[in-house]
Amino acid sequence: MTAASATDQHWPWWPLLPLYPYGRRPTLVRELIPRRIWSFEQLHGVWYVAVPIRMTVVRVEEGLLLYSPIPPTGEVLEALHELERHHGPVRAIVLATSSGLEHKLPVPAMARAFPAATVWVSDCQWSFPLRLPDAWLGFPADRTKVLGLDGFPFPDQLRWIPLGPLDLGLGTFLEVACLDLTTGSLLVTDALVSISAEPPPVFDLDPTPLLFYARDGGSELLIDSPANRMRGWLRIVLFANYFRPSCIEVPPLPELLAQVGREGCRSARAHFGFYPFRWSEDWQIEAARLLRDGNPARPVRLAPVLERLVFPRARKAFQVWLRKLARLEEIQHLIAAHYDAPIPLGVTQLHAYASDLETAEWAPSKGPWTTLASIDEALVNLGVVSPSKN
Ligand SMILES: [Fe+2]
Repeated sequence: MTAASATDQHWPWWPLLPLYPYGRRPTLVRELIPRRIWSFEQLHGVWYVAVPIRMTVVRVEEGLLLYSPIPPTGEVLEALHELERHHGPVRAIVLATSSGLEHKLPVPAMARAFPAATVWVSDCQWSFPLRLPDAWLGFPADRTKVLGLDGFPFPDQLRWIPLGPLDLGLGTFLEVACLDLTTGSLLVTDALVSISAEPPPVFDLDPTPLLFYARDGGSELLIDSPANRMRGWLRIVLFANYFRPSCIEVPPLPELLAQVGREGCRSARAHFGFYPFRWSEDWQIEAARLLRDGNPARPVRLAPVLERLVFPRARKAFQVWLRKLARLEEIQHLIAAHYDAPIPLGVTQLHAYASDLETAEWAPSKGPWTTLASIDEALVNLGVVSPSKN
């Protein structure tokens, strides 16, 4: 297989959501479950805080189902057409979240690439600042169906389990998980994550974000080594989950400027030496709390961003959803749209997680959660988010 070119990896709609790596999106394609489930992973993020974003392809009896589409570059379409040759046509494209813009934006382009596929979207789609009709969001009106209202795709082979709707004030949170009964794979978009200490393999295509954050100062070179990749990954995990972790501070401006433009760092890749972070000694302890490795009883969790900004007043709704999942004995593992997959997961762990939440601290406001808490507070004060219980 030849390496994909820049043209094959081009994503022309990136200015709509200008995230790293912008217009060029390399894709890692992996077969997760032989002849049944494939993962298509890209990176996306803000200022090198890049995490994997995944589309999951399920082979149903009638053909292929795409769950949580990613930008359909030429490289992605070529791999999908190859799967179609062996397993049948793409029959369904599923957007299972009402709110995740990063999952919503690729849908119109993916739909155009597969004009015979039915597009399924979760109910309560919303746009900001203007509420636009679904057709204006680019969903093809003549072949778009709403999950739940219009049934569900392939219900004899897949179970669909909604989380929500939750009225957030600004919009509605609704996500629909999908259980493949054949393999026991539970597909979710954003509602559950499982984070490993090892950098995900998609970074092998582009380790730059890891190497950037592995450093302690802007004048340090970007050096590729296994230790630096892991160190950079753990720091990215902190930023991605807390936005501003409590184990960093911003150095004074003279110190920052003194590092800019040093030899070896005078490149856009190194952001010309601009690196406004100073890490405290306990940063690894803070990162370890987010990893599944230190917590085998709870291999998956609600991402802190969702816990603090979407569910701070809706713990009960999340617990109810976990209990619903825990009644599905077929569940064997989790395939989420971010981070690692597949992750072994069973009903015992789901029940345990739901029970833990009866007493565990929920959506805290101190320590690494401080920034998320202040965002939530500001949104409530501005009236953008409803403070009432959902
Ligand atoms: Fe997401």
